[in-house]
Amino acid sequence: MRRVIFLRLPSGVFGNGGQAWLSIDLKPSRDMLEKRGFSILESTVDRAISLDLRPNDIVIYSSSDDPEIYEYMKDAFYFIRNRCQLLPHYDFLMAYENKGFQEIYRKERGFGNLDGNYFYDLDVSPRSFPYVFKTITGAGSSGVHLIRSKRDLRKLRCTIFSVSLRRRLILLQRKWKLSKEHYAAYSYRHKGFRRYAVQEFISGLECDYKILIFGERFFSLKRYVRKGDFRASGSGNFDFTASTPAHVLDFAASIANKLDAPQLSLDIADSGGTCHLIEYQALNFGPTTLTLSKGYYRRESGGWAWVSGVSDLGETYAHSLEAYFDKHDIRATA
Ligand SMILES: Nc1ncnc2c1ncn2[C@@H]1O[C@H](COP(=O)(O)OP(=O)(O)O)[C@@H](O)[C@H]1O
Ligand SMILES: [Mg+2]
Repeated sequence: MRRVIFLRLPSGVFGNGGQAWLSIDLKPSRDMLEKRGFSILESTVDRAISLDLRPNDIVIYSSSDDPEIYEYMKDAFYFIRNRCQLLPHYDFLMAYENKGFQEIYRKERGFGNLDGNYFYDLDVSPRSFPYVFKTITGAGSSGVHLIRSKRDLRKLRCTIFSVSLRRRLILLQRKWKLSKEHYAAYSYRHKGFRRYAVQEFISGLECDYKILIFGERFFSLKRYVRKGDFRASGSGNFDFTASTPAHVLDFAASIANKLDAPQLSLDIADSGGTCHLIEYQALNFGPTTLTLSKGYYRRESGGWAWVSGVSDLGETYAHSLEAYFDKHDIRATA
């Protein structure tokens, strides 16, 4: 019998990006898959590497916001991905909470309609302004800055890229002691690196759209920018009732097609009818756009239909798996 294996944290949690200690209820997913003839097993992320996996096993996992667990998962799943079918794909574990990886990935795959890049040294950042600077982790717009001039870069150097006074004193001392060549190598090591992504700035936005895609269900939240600011995420000025333009939903659907994950969270900017993908996640994203929504959009006869009603996360998660299994014709008998 073909197996589906769910990996939880040892605490029992199956990741939920909103309140990380709460779990997605997997019972509806288990019931749905059992009905389809799969054998359902559960294990934990720390034991996954020792499992006796078969190539046609489907291993469904979530990530962790704990940096140690996350780094462990990246290492272990690098090998696990070759022994079974990981869901979502390993690439999404790499992209989890990593805006730098996301930038390279979107360039390689050619999606998103927004130019960007990934660096670690402030000295190599673009010199043509403006652009958006982002530390690779962070939510609610923390770590996201508009860079309009060299002055803004200097501000970053004194904050995000600052080097401690102690280190600067040691550097001075080494400058006297070391040869020019050795000092150059030594000082590079202590320049104060920080990984960051840059993106083309989309000017004049009043809002962005957070779109959660669970299979055929599209949940949307319109988020207005803060007063006197360009950033919407974390502003708290959100509108669950606003209708979402069809071209934004079309754009979200085209990204979903490319990314091919059962669940997705997309931040989309609509600039005069042209859409851009600002950020994306396929693991452990905040679910409130779903849980607080009064309904969702679904594709219907070429357009979009609104389906009213409050959605349950566990049930919607099961739907997303069902839709994914259908789309890829994943059967218990294969
Ligand atoms: N390239 C961009 N151009 C214009 N506004 C942007 C751009 N990138 C991000 N923003 C604004 O900043 C906010 C936060 O950016 P985002 O990358 O989504 O980080 P976070 O992880 O904090 O949500 C977005 O909600 C959007 O309003
Ligand atoms: Mg965002």
